[in-house]
Amino acid sequence: MSLEQSSIFMTGGSKGFSRLLWDCLPRQKKSFCRATGYDLKRDEDIVKMAQESLNCDIFINYTHVDFQQTELLYQVFANWKQKGKKGLIVNIGSFATYEVKPEVKLWVASKYSLDVANQQCCKEAIGEKLPFRVCLLKLGFLSAPENQDKPHWDGRGHSPEQIIEALQLVFQSSQAIDEIVIRPS
Ligand SMILES: NC(=O)c1ccc[n+]([C@@H]2O[C@H](COP(=O)([O-])OP(=O)(O)OC[C@H]3O[C@@H](n4cnc5c(N)ncnc54)[C@H](OP(=O)(O)O)[C@@H]3O)[C@@H](O)[C@H]2O)c1
Repeated sequence: MSLEQSSIFMTGGSKGFSRLLWDCLPRQKKSFCRATGYDLKRDEDIVKMAQESLNCDIFINYTHVDFQQTELLYQVFANWKQKGKKGLIVNIGSFATYEVKPEVKLWVASKYSLDVANQQCCKEAIGEKLPFRVCLLKLGFLSAPENQDKPHWDGRGHSPEQIIEALQLVFQSSQAIDEIVIRPS
C-alpha cells in the first residue's frame, strides 16, 4: 500500500513545524492536539488517542510533552497488540538524547525514554511476530522559524518532505526497520 492510499493519524498538526508536516500528508488524516480537543497531559485523552489509533494505517507519535509521548506509545502498542492490528507506529525522536544536558534534564531524559520504549516495542513486535511495526525517526533541527534564532542553528533543518520520504521508506520496506537517523539537509 502506498502512503497516499493510507490513513495517517498524528499527534500535533496545528502549529509550528507540525503544521507544515500536516499540510504535506496525504488526504486521509487526523490530528490530535489541543486545537482538536486532545491534551497529552490528560491521561484520559491518551487513552482516547490510543483507542482512535486503531482506525489508521500509520500512527505518528510526534508531540513531545515530558513523558507523555512515551506513555502514548505504550498505550497505542498495547491496543494494537490486543487487537492484532496491522500498520505502522512511527515515533519522532531527537538527536537530543545523544548528549548530556543537565540544564534540560527532564526534556532529555523524557525524550530518551522514548528511544528505550521504541526498542522494547520493536523487540516485542518482532519476537511475538505481531502484525504491525514500530519505528523511531531520530531527527536534528526542524526547519521551523522558531529554531532559526537558536545558537546551534547552522542554516540546515529538516523539511517536511524529508520526513515524508523517511516515512515512505519505513512503510514500504520489506524488512522491519527499528530506527532511522536522518541528518538535516
Ligand atoms: N524542534 C526541533 O528542532 C526538533 C528536533 C528534533 C526532534 N524534534 C521532535 O519533533 C517533535 C516536534 O517538536 P516541536 O516542539 O518542534 O513541535 P511543533 O512542531 O511546534 O508542534 C507542536 C504540536 O504539539 C501540540 N501540542 C503541544 N502541547 C500539547 C499538549 N499538551 N497536548 C496535545 N498537543 C500538544 C501543538 O498543538 P496545540 O498547541 O494545538 O496543542 C502542536 O500542534 C517532538 O517530538 C520533538 O522532540 C524537534
